Amino acid sequence: MRMYDIINRKKKGNSLTREEIRFMIEGYTKGEIPDYQMSAMMMAICFQGMNETETLELTLAMRDSGEVLDLSQIPGMKVDKHSTGGVGDKTSLVLIPMVAALGIPVAKMSGRGLGHTGGTIDKLECFPGFSTGLSKEQFVQNVNQVKMAIMGQTADLAPADKKLYALRDVTATVDQLSLIASSIMSKKLASGADAIVLDVKTGNGAFMKQEADAFALAKEMVQIGKNAGKKISAVITDMNQPLGNAVGNSLEVKEAILSLNGLGPSDFMEVVYALGTELVLAAGKANTQHEAEEMLKQTIRNKTALDKFAEFIEAQGGEKTLVYQPELLPAARIQLQVMNTQEGYVAGIWAEEIGLASLILGGGRATKDSSIDLSVGILLNKKRGDLVHPGETLAVIYANDMEQAKEAYGKIVRAYQIQEDAPKQVSMIKGIIR
Ligand code: URA
Repeated sequence: MRMYDIINRKKKGNSLTREEIRFMIEGYTKGEIPDYQMSAMMMAICFQGMNETETLELTLAMRDSGEVLDLSQIPGMKVDKHSTGGVGDKTSLVLIPMVAALGIPVAKMSGRGLGHTGGTIDKLECFPGFSTGLSKEQFVQNVNQVKMAIMGQTADLAPADKKLYALRDVTATVDQLSLIASSIMSKKLASGADAIVLDVKTGNGAFMKQEADAFALAKEMVQIGKNAGKKISAVITDMNQPLGNAVGNSLEVKEAILSLNGLGPSDFMEVVYALGTELVLAAGKANTQHEAEEMLKQTIRNKTALDKFAEFIEAQGGEKTLVYQPELLPAARIQLQVMNTQEGYVAGIWAEEIGLASLILGGGRATKDSSIDLSVGILLNKKRGDLVHPGETLAVIYANDMEQAKEAYGKIVRAYQIQEDAPKQVSMIKGIIR
């Protein structure tokens, strides 16, 4: 088999066979197929697309390019959750303890923040001593004992995707639906869970700006998951403003703790309950959506989710007392209020701009190796639908450097879209694909 011939076949619109896809992915992972041939192939796929079988085969080949985690030592239906990324997305910190408190084992791989979006691992590192660098044995043991564990993505997990994603990033071939779907799903399938719920975000702060694209991506991923024998569903959620009120690592952890105490912002909790319901149903713990949601709500009312979160923090080396004393979490020195100058209603908040403002404050990574300031961020006092008057505080900036705070100020003011009329109420949940 020659890579030249495979590229040529795809260029002409043919479907690739399983053998061709395996040859290409195995060869590329080993370094036998060079970047320039793979770039040509990625571009051919951008123009010609891939059918369902090809997309599945590509996903499975990338999954098998590294280790597939064996979770067979964990009894029961293991669940996992994945978000395509957004601003203020602290969903996992609340959702996973709730689900684990119901006795459902959650084995989760998480990442760090990059660009304007945050990452769960950074947030959890607000707890001194906390580590996601668990061995596989420790990971399995923690899921068995605590019912939840979060591990950082290891180098062995879908290495073909890692290499390919870096290549796509610099060859303008990221935004092809089947390539995105297979990239995300190869990692999820390698993580070994039996049931997966996907949070596919759409809107100005999301990867998929258009709702139709988010639905199409969700459908492709669900199809791959089903074909690979997993229980899977995708919830398409709104990202036309940051989720909840807090953006920035420590501020988001504090908001997550508030939520576990029953004081979560309504937009955020709507997403948490929608995703949680999918997980509870997938695990077979409830028969109806209503029953699943009630069970989840009970974990907040009786504080079992809060206690589960503390237990999890301690099991991974973190200081659990901070769960009950969140005022001791990292705090920034400067607080700067962002003042409103216009009368009207908040119609939306450019989530990406708020994410970038947090980046300016030092709360995010410009490159993979940058260090971050966990204490900085933005608390949004006003959200979509709120009536605002001149002189009111729109948001509060938490910073450690006044120059950075001033730079972020302008971005935040510009991020608020204020109009005369009250905007239409929108649901956070755009749809569910099962
Ligand atoms: N996230 C991924 O993991 N892969 C993509 O291709 C796009 C987003």
